Amino acid sequence: MSDRYQGFASSPIGRLVVKNLGLPNPVALERWAGGDALVDGLVVLGGTGRLTATLPATLDGLGIACATTLEEGARAKALVFDATGITDTSGLVALQEFFTPLLRRLESCPRIVVLGTPPEQRSGSERIAQRALEGFTRSLGKEVGRGGTVQLVYVAPAADGAVASTLGFLLSPKSAYVSGQVVRIGAHGATTTDEVADWTRPLAGKVALVTGASRGIGEEIARVLHRDGASVVGLDVPQAASELQTLMAELDGDHLVLDITAKDAPQRIAHHLREHHGGVDVVVHNAGITRDRRLANMAADRWSSVIAVNLTAPELITRELLDAGVVNPGGRIVGVASIAGIAGNVGQTNYATSKAGVIGLVDSLRDELTDGITVNAVAPGFIITQMTAAVPFATREVGQRLNALAQGGLPVDVAETIAWFASPGSGAVNGNVVRVCGQMMLGA
Ligand SMILES: NC(=O)c1ccc[n+]([C@@H]2O[C@H](COP(=O)([O-])OP(=O)(O)OC[C@H]3O[C@@H](n4cnc5c(N)ncnc54)[C@H](O)[C@@H]3O)[C@@H](O)[C@H]2O)c1
Repeated sequence: MSDRYQGFASSPIGRLVVKNLGLPNPVALERWAGGDALVDGLVVLGGTGRLTATLPATLDGLGIACATTLEEGARAKALVFDATGITDTSGLVALQEFFTPLLRRLESCPRIVVLGTPPEQRSGSERIAQRALEGFTRSLGKEVGRGGTVQLVYVAPAADGAVASTLGFLLSPKSAYVSGQVVRIGAHGATTTDEVADWTRPLAGKVALVTGASRGIGEEIARVLHRDGASVVGLDVPQAASELQTLMAELDGDHLVLDITAKDAPQRIAHHLREHHGGVDVVVHNAGITRDRRLANMAADRWSSVIAVNLTAPELITRELLDAGVVNPGGRIVGVASIAGIAGNVGQTNYATSKAGVIGLVDSLRDELTDGITVNAVAPGFIITQMTAAVPFATREVGQRLNALAQGGLPVDVAETIAWFASPGSGAVNGNVVRVCGQMMLGA
């Protein structure tokens, strides 16, 4: 499952060939390991706005060093620009004035975050200017290179005090494969968040259900949530019971063996979580299947099984857990969508329908949830797993190069994004669909 092209491109001969032929040159991405600092280097702050005064203390609380200038000869690991003070289009020039001189002075795998105000909460010139920020960050994401990422975070004014968990994620190597994204904080539901006592184990004392946990992305989600302190309840089908049990024993967790499409699955899950764990804090709907065929050749069971596993089951399980009061206050519901649900894909009308439906599930719940419960989804792009290893070589090569980072992501990249949603510090992060796709060229 290794990326052979990336290995070749970093060899002495490969470097020569890649340079002379102008081929994609994927950088080995930095990833976070337990105990690392969130940012290994300096964050330079720019812009002026509502968040300017509090940003240094917020970053300090995360153990991140920042400054407003960069000494001669020094390099920055990250740039954070407060654009909330831009109230008309003439103010957009501040972006160019801040970023242009600094872009050649970045370390490898740099992080760039622009902070704005949700345009829908503003009117007139300010709304236009805030909306314009999207074009800036999406383009810079495609330009920055060297494994760098760029995001736009729209912070509702009422949520100005709730940005720490999001900055901690987006500035760190945890967001290695997330780029070109627009995140909203406080735009739906809660605008405040809980204090996080220990940023190294934010999920201590929490119970997390992960469906499809025996392998692939689900296994990694279980591992990362466990690393962050959660007690994990892994769920999978009877055929995967032995792998599931082995993994959950390793993670000191609990397991639940059932098919999520069974008629009584929502009630059995709710009953298990209530009886054995007193409720659940984090629900990750990861289990998913593909049954690809062009629609002209689609058998009825290929259509219905994909919709049943990927969409109807998460919908019914979520409904039951909420109605039965099994989701604890401050709970986190996380869907796993797909880039296919945003951009569409040949041979995947069934899969893309189900995954766009997962985005619909987020939209339908985000303004309805109470008790500090949030709902968000990840939309992975090309993630290197057993599933994608089976894709024919040429298709796989195109699939993994067609993004700004010119490589496939790893299951851990999806898992880290889910861990950010799951954090008690992410109480105001609600209603988002964040792509984990290296800023793939397909889709919005
Ligand atoms: N790998 C990728 O590139 C990629 C891209 C986008 C989205 N995704 C999504 O990420 C999720 C995980 O994908 P993966 O690549 O790890 O797949 P995978 O096939 O390796 O794992 C899926 C898991 O779900 C379980 N599962 C399937 N049907 C189930 C059912 N009815 N009840 C309970 N468990 C069931 C499987 O047994 C398996 O353990 C899926 O939702 C998938 O659609 C993956």
